[in-house]
Amino acid sequence: MKNLTILGSTGSIGVSTLQIVAAFPEDYRVVALTAGNNIALLAEQVIKFRPKLVAVVSEQGAEQLAKRLKGVDVEILCGVEGLIRCAVHADSDMVVAAIVGAAGLVPTLAAIKAGKDIALANKETLVTAGSLVMDEVAQRDVTMIPVDSEHSAIFQSLAGQRGEDVRRIILTASGGPFRQHSLQQLESVTPADALAHPNWSMGNKISIDSATMMNKGLEVIEACWLFNLPAEQVAVHIHPESIIHSMVEYRDGAVMAQLGIPDMKTPIAYALSWPRRLPLDQQPLDLCRAGKLTFAEPDLERFPCLRLAYQAFAAGGTVPAVMNAANEIAVEAFLSGKLGFLAIPRLIEQVVARHQREELVAIDKVLQADLWGRQEARKLIREGVA
Ligand SMILES: NC(=O)c1ccc[n+]([C@@H]2O[C@H](COP(=O)([O-])OP(=O)(O)OC[C@H]3O[C@@H](n4cnc5c(N)ncnc54)[C@H](OP(=O)(O)O)[C@@H]3O)[C@@H](O)[C@H]2O)c1
Repeated sequence: MKNLTILGSTGSIGVSTLQIVAAFPEDYRVVALTAGNNIALLAEQVIKFRPKLVAVVSEQGAEQLAKRLKGVDVEILCGVEGLIRCAVHADSDMVVAAIVGAAGLVPTLAAIKAGKDIALANKETLVTAGSLVMDEVAQRDVTMIPVDSEHSAIFQSLAGQRGEDVRRIILTASGGPFRQHSLQQLESVTPADALAHPNWSMGNKISIDSATMMNKGLEVIEACWLFNLPAEQVAVHIHPESIIHSMVEYRDGAVMAQLGIPDMKTPIAYALSWPRRLPLDQQPLDLCRAGKLTFAEPDLERFPCLRLAYQAFAAGGTVPAVMNAANEIAVEAFLSGKLGFLAIPRLIEQVVARHQREELVAIDKVLQADLWGRQEARKLIREGVA
């Protein structure tokens, strides 16, 4: 029996994680759950999974939740302190980090410092503070298993191999809904177009990140930290079928890949059950029906966010945190109709260009850079600069 805390239980990854918990009640029990604003769904989850502790972002949210849960034996907290209390709960063996954005960093880091094993979906934790987070993982001897399908594929393709034999890893990317759009067509795409991902069903922010290919950029940085590789050894191939989830190329020329249907339940379940595999009721992969698997180079002119992520990682220090913060604000502004699709990378580039890089000596530096990046991005949007 493994006891879980799920940070972000009301999101796409959180809900899929709870479906696995429900399917394997002998293996998993929920100790703590956290949510942002979806109080109604969190209340349903509490009634079904009976955690001891829950936390939401606002005090108002906590009051609403308490009203819905009258008579239910659960402690309700709010704010960052509440998220941290859930992350470090004494009974929790593993923390599923599934909050979206940089908001996931502080509770995930708290869980690592408390020695909890981590199933990591929140890639922004490593994008913004990779060096600090990986130092803590090593110091506390924490097992961190990736949930992202690409990183899970790499993790699986590395099993039983020696790190020094790796020549490079190849992250696959579907290319998103605009893979074949011209620059001119990209000018006028809407949030609804961008949210319609061809292969994966995901939360709004990651869906827009997939459309701009910033998601792949964030994943490159995540991969560098997780697998301790320089960015030159992390390549990206467009693979529209999303069947090969990623690959590792070894120095003798052998390439190991992990394949499967595009369903996040498989990598989530693997992160929970590693090194075992759960008997999931998944539709089998039918390669004959798929017929062919295709690959192409990413186009950095139409999708500059991927280039911006490589550049931010090369610059290091506080730059990736600023890039990530500017991206979060740009995505929010695009979703609310305040920014065009092609203005997303323009805004990020301008914010990063204005930033005075600092070394990441402590977590405060990351949080300051994150705040600065958000403020600067909002200012530029108000001024109509991007
Ligand atoms: N979805 C996927 O298929 C997928 C695949 C690979 C990796 N990931 C990564 O997994 C993470 C979660 O993605 P998702 O698609 O599941 O996102 P999502 O559906 O938007 O869910 C995000 C979760 O975080 C909570 N949340 C949002 N802002 C918060 C804040 N400021 N403080 C505390 N909690 C907050 C949300 O709460 P409310 O909804 O209650 O407001 C929700 O529970 C992201 O980092 C993403 O890149 C996702």
